[in-house]
Amino acid sequence: MNSVRHNAVATLLFAFGLGCSSGGSLGSGSDGKAGSPATAGVGSTVSTGASASGGNPDAGGSGGASSGGPSDSGGASGGTTVGGGSTAAAGQDGGGGRGGTSGTAGTGGAGTNNTAGAAGTAGADGGNPSGPPMGWASWNSFAAKIDYNVIKGQADAMVSSGLKAAGYQYVNVDEGWWQGTRDASGNITIVESDWPGGMQAIATYIHGLGLKAGIYTDAGNDGCGFYYPTGRPAAPKSGSEGHYEQDFLQFSKWGFDFVKVDWCGGSKEGLDAKTAYQAISNAIKKATDQTGRSMVFSVCNWGDQSPWSWAPPMSTMWRTSQDIIYYGDAPDMARVLTNFDSAQHPTAQSPGHFNDPDMLIVGMPGFSAAQNRSHMALWAISGAPLLAGNKLDSMSRDTTSVLTNSEVIAIDQDLLGKQGVKVADDAGRQVYNKVLSGTGRRAVLLLNRTASAATITVRFADLGLGTTASVRNVWAATDLGSKATSYAVSVPSNDSVLLVVTEGASP
Ligand code: GLA
Repeated sequence: MNSVRHNAVATLLFAFGLGCSSGGSLGSGSDGKAGSPATAGVGSTVSTGASASGGNPDAGGSGGASSGGPSDSGGASGGTTVGGGSTAAAGQDGGGGRGGTSGTAGTGGAGTNNTAGAAGTAGADGGNPSGPPMGWASWNSFAAKIDYNVIKGQADAMVSSGLKAAGYQYVNVDEGWWQGTRDASGNITIVESDWPGGMQAIATYIHGLGLKAGIYTDAGNDGCGFYYPTGRPAAPKSGSEGHYEQDFLQFSKWGFDFVKVDWCGGSKEGLDAKTAYQAISNAIKKATDQTGRSMVFSVCNWGDQSPWSWAPPMSTMWRTSQDIIYYGDAPDMARVLTNFDSAQHPTAQSPGHFNDPDMLIVGMPGFSAAQNRSHMALWAISGAPLLAGNKLDSMSRDTTSVLTNSEVIAIDQDLLGKQGVKVADDAGRQVYNKVLSGTGRRAVLLLNRTASAATITVRFADLGLGTTASVRNVWAATDLGSKATSYAVSVPSNDSVLLVVTEGASP
């Protein structure tokens, strides 16, 4: 990755109490190949029994086509290509929902898979199965210091906090679960003291909560955990290169429903991203064909080699920029905005296929309630994946209310899957417009990037609407009534106002 990351990771190591002096190559600024960075002493003691609750194969789908909506595009894309369809697959731990990972979302929809989608029993999300994935991922708050208990704790909190009820589904194990070891047959081996019962045990536990499970690897030989260790020893060979079919079949057999594939090795080795990720997509399809379990495929090559130009047909989501935060750093609104801007590739996006500005940092220490709201609004207006990255077991009520706001989530998850686009920019006083399903409905973000409070005006003509429209302030949950031609409001510096604008007079 880049020097920014390098420096940030050095900062992180200090945060862990390591520092470069103990850390081999990291201090050198080299590519890290040579290093044998510090053994950070993860020191976790995993005490729980492995098998947890044993999952509930009949947990019922979260998803399905419950929300219906225009042309039932939800059910359709849930059911196209991938999904492997089959009602059987749907019956397992809540499948049936978000099929269509690498399929041609939104097309067709007939056939068995549609049945599978419908078979979901209107699970927690009850929403749009081809919407941007919603869940939580371990990286932003835990870096590589993860084990069974960490993930279990956050999965439990996803339920108890109300995030599951609000539509969050995926519990994603990011880097740190695997130190790169394999047995003589090339099968991945893991540290059983960290993951009692193996990785299938945590997937089973997550499924038992009615949630879905995600896992992580790298497209190259050595993963990010080799080049930039954060809390564990540097892990050579912690990538899947040379083992794509074997590893993705393994993930599927373990029960994972989502896989994020990073690019540290791929980048260092100079791989062609489209070729590598296509091979991975093929391996995932093949695995799904064998197991009946679909997997969301998350391409994570940070916008290198313009993934928006090739990733949509092969994946559900593709990162468009560098990391939104480096562990140990404080959340920074400037990075949120940079990542938001970098994700603007509206023509690449469609139901089931999303630009990914990175996981959320909503609720991480250092962000104010207003910053959390703006960050969430920026992702919602983008129709971006909503993968929380904060600690779910200790979040404030404010954070919970931001992450679970049903109107904001509905904007993000809108069935059309559109990305909001900038329609006006008056020296940093910006207006973004997201076309929503239904008739004459728009989500609008008024974003003030200037150093002082400013009045921002949205002209209805810029939204493609007629002269009269009714306006609702989303975070305030307040209807503002009918307006003629435009609506103007004062927006604090570096803050935003999120609206829904509907053509016609208010009832
Ligand atoms: C990269 C990714 C992050 C995270 C880390 C893990 O930086 O972009 O999202 O997965 O690797 O090391």
